[in-house]
Amino acid sequence: MSALVIGSGYGGSVAALRLAQAGVDVQLVEMGMAWDTPGADGKIFCATPNPDQRSFWLRTRTKQPFSNFLGFPIDKDIPRYTGILDAEEFSGITVYQGRGVGGGSLVNGGMAVTPKRENFGAILPTVDANEMYDVYYPRANAGLGVASIRPAWFDSTDWYQFARVGRKQAQRSGFPFVFVPDVYDWDYMEQEAAGTVTKSALAGEILFGNNYGKKSLQKTYHPKITATGRVTISPLHRVTQVVPAAGGGYTVTIEQLTTTGAVSTIKTVTADTVFFAAGSVGTSKLLVKLKATGALPNLNGEIGKGWGDNGNVMVGRANHIWDPTGASQSTIPCGGIDNWNAGGAFAEVAPLPTGIETWASFYLSITKNPNRAQFTWNPATRAVELNWQTAWKQPSIDMAKTIFDKINATEGTIYRTDLFGTYKTWGDHLTYHPLGGAVLGKATDNYGRLAGYQGLYAIDGSLIPGNTSVNPFVTITALAERNIEKIIAQDF
Ligand code: FDA
Repeated sequence: MSALVIGSGYGGSVAALRLAQAGVDVQLVEMGMAWDTPGADGKIFCATPNPDQRSFWLRTRTKQPFSNFLGFPIDKDIPRYTGILDAEEFSGITVYQGRGVGGGSLVNGGMAVTPKRENFGAILPTVDANEMYDVYYPRANAGLGVASIRPAWFDSTDWYQFARVGRKQAQRSGFPFVFVPDVYDWDYMEQEAAGTVTKSALAGEILFGNNYGKKSLQKTYHPKITATGRVTISPLHRVTQVVPAAGGGYTVTIEQLTTTGAVSTIKTVTADTVFFAAGSVGTSKLLVKLKATGALPNLNGEIGKGWGDNGNVMVGRANHIWDPTGASQSTIPCGGIDNWNAGGAFAEVAPLPTGIETWASFYLSITKNPNRAQFTWNPATRAVELNWQTAWKQPSIDMAKTIFDKINATEGTIYRTDLFGTYKTWGDHLTYHPLGGAVLGKATDNYGRLAGYQGLYAIDGSLIPGNTSVNPFVTITALAERNIEKIIAQDF
């Protein structure tokens, strides 16, 4: 039995590793670059304050998540290139995603959060929580290298003054501040601060990749994948078509891309099984297109449905002059404000690493937003569309305000209005956490087997119905570990 895995993020990496360890030959197809070769500056990745061609996926101008600073637009022209961060625009929302071998792990903040057990039933109602919390969450946490900041260092270093201000203000308003684990190598970060190693998180690196301290999938699952000797990884290869093959299995059409995004070659390969791990958006777009265009007509009516933004909304607050947040800020968040049960919001205290004192506190909130959108095929444009509307973020804003209106009242402070435009308070136009589109138990069985076809699976964020109550990649990884174990045991 052979397997082809589409996408090399969390779901795809778990699938490739476990299949290969079970003796299956795997082709791992990834549309982004390998990100293993330094550029002219000797670095593989560019820092957030200085985006160059490596920053964005096939754009000629950057599209920063916060577009303005002190009222001035910060985006700039860049050469079109297969860069690392995709700002994919749908009509009502921009969805940020990682592109490259390692998927979202290349660009994300590394916040590695296991949801509270009491909330798990609302996240994945058909999954046995005991199994998840006893076996698969621990397996995912170990495999990803999850760890927490040393509290004594947190309390003393200049690099986390912004987070200590966030903690103090949360607690003064009666909200619990919780430390959040991360996959950053915290020992390395302490050495960065001591000046004994090359700076990475302390040099503004995060959104366009991290050169040293972050344990992306490149440093965790991928060396193990390579060590099996059974996985062929093809970067800059994009899957466009999957159809049943005459003699069984599937024929997969793959476009090889140049670094300016042109198609240089079109290849077809066959595999007995195909795992869709292109991320919530990538998997949904492929499956919706393949169903609508007749390549996989038996996929069921749930394909494309149940998509949510994990309730993401961003906001900044302006602090008093006596509450500086620090000119030196680590790019790696390490704490959050928990008002999930009372107000439906969990707010990361996020850095704003501009290199100057801004007196700003910045937050990315995850909220219990109930709205769900659907991907559909538009035959006229031959493109997949998403019907999310910007106004659907209002519940998220209301939930985030349960925290920040109170903090502002306690502190006598106001919201910043210069980060997302001029006089615009809420970053309500984007998500970092797309989830759903091939929901577990609806578009698939309870283990990700796609309804209608034997040997086709979804194994990424598309399985999760729109919200995880916390940052999603630990749950995506744990669910993938659970599903692939069952699939290997029963189907291979
Ligand atoms: P993922 O998106 O990781 O991987 C899919 C891969 O498939 C990509 O590499 C893509 O290029 C590839 N692909 C897509 N279509 C394809 C095709 N047709 N052919 C071939 N390849 C294709 N989460 C968290 O828990 N903590 C955090 O701190 C953060 N922070 C954060 C910051 C930012 C800026 C972003 C953009 C995201 C986060 N996230 C996060 C979210 C997290 O990164 C995300 O949930 C996971 O990466 C999703 O994992 P998947 O396996 O679903 O897909």
